[in-house]
Amino acid sequence: MRLKNCHNFHDFRRMAKQRLPGPIFNYIDGAADDEVTYRRNTRAFEDCDLVPNVLRGVSDVNMSVTIMGQKLAMPVYCSPTALQRLFHPQGERAVAAAAGKYGTMFGVSSLGTVSLEEARKISGAPQVYQFYFHRDRGLNREMMNRAKQAGVEVMMLTVDSITGGNRERDKRTGFAIPFKLTLAGMAQFAIKPAWAINYFMHESFKLPQLDTHVDMGSGTMSISRYFTEMLDPAMNWDDVAEMVQHWGGQFCLKGVMSAADARRAVEIGCTGIVLSNHGGRQLDGSRSAFDQLAEIVDAVGDKIDVIMDGGVQRGTHVLKALSLGAKAVGLGRYYLFPLAAAGQAGVERALEQMRVEIERGMKLMGVTSVDQLSRENLRFHAASFTSSRHSS
Ligand code: LAC
Repeated sequence: MRLKNCHNFHDFRRMAKQRLPGPIFNYIDGAADDEVTYRRNTRAFEDCDLVPNVLRGVSDVNMSVTIMGQKLAMPVYCSPTALQRLFHPQGERAVAAAAGKYGTMFGVSSLGTVSLEEARKISGAPQVYQFYFHRDRGLNREMMNRAKQAGVEVMMLTVDSITGGNRERDKRTGFAIPFKLTLAGMAQFAIKPAWAINYFMHESFKLPQLDTHVDMGSGTMSISRYFTEMLDPAMNWDDVAEMVQHWGGQFCLKGVMSAADARRAVEIGCTGIVLSNHGGRQLDGSRSAFDQLAEIVDAVGDKIDVIMDGGVQRGTHVLKALSLGAKAVGLGRYYLFPLAAAGQAGVERALEQMRVEIERGMKLMGVTSVDQLSRENLRFHAASFTSSRHSS
């Protein structure tokens, strides 16, 4: 399969699957328990329809948005995701460069494999630092100070990962960092020699955001164990209020789902929230961000930037989320499979397709800027009517 044959999410996923050893593909592709939430994330978009207007003069379309003080050329951004150099040797460098080219925000994870300082130099686009709150408070302070020094624009604290999700695909393959695989997992690596050659030819695996405090070199650590052993399950609203003060800039909580929590985020001075279930990778059975969006926008939409992620594969998904009141939409697997498939060229092709789809969708909807999208343009199907109604 070739890059030029990738026309949508599914094509990129297939190409990534061909290239990646099974344990790595399944780490990206998998989710928690029965993966019900993971499937629902994309399906949720199919429970409502767009109602277009016509004859509006749509020659010039402007899809830019401003969130948390950052101007984005398009209403989607690359969410922070972990371990990108495992997927392709260019890793975070490719994503930072592609996001820079498309004028949109990108995130570097606490579990990133390129330093936030290096990523900052690659891209002129706004940079998010995805933060995990560790038991080691010294590490937390140091990470924040470092991010500030590096010139990171937005601090994004993940709040849905206080303990590891039950990722059964990873259990079966033994996926851990560095690798510790089950026999079956090892066989999967043996049949993907191109990946292995690439991986071992390039610089060794590092977690530069954490390496002074977390010894990933000796012994191995599964993602689930990292969450459970390294992150502080005692983290509460007071801790985060302190962090918001200490940071003193744009601060966003990723993984807020309830209206009560959204209000508290406003109270402690956050400037954004991302409705998210972590790609279905944490609490299976939890609601999809899109299903929950209207309720949250109604509660706090005029006080804080409400953003969402989860399951977004199409420009029309983005238009639906914006119509419900999201200010922007995060992409995860949408750019990770292209990264795995073809590095920077893959991520750029995926972002270009998204840009084209959003532009085409806006023209066909009869709007020339995203603020013209509203709930007027959406109708929910009968079955989902009652659940979405109370909030719209
Ligand atoms: C994951 C974390 C690391 O979902 O974000 O695997």
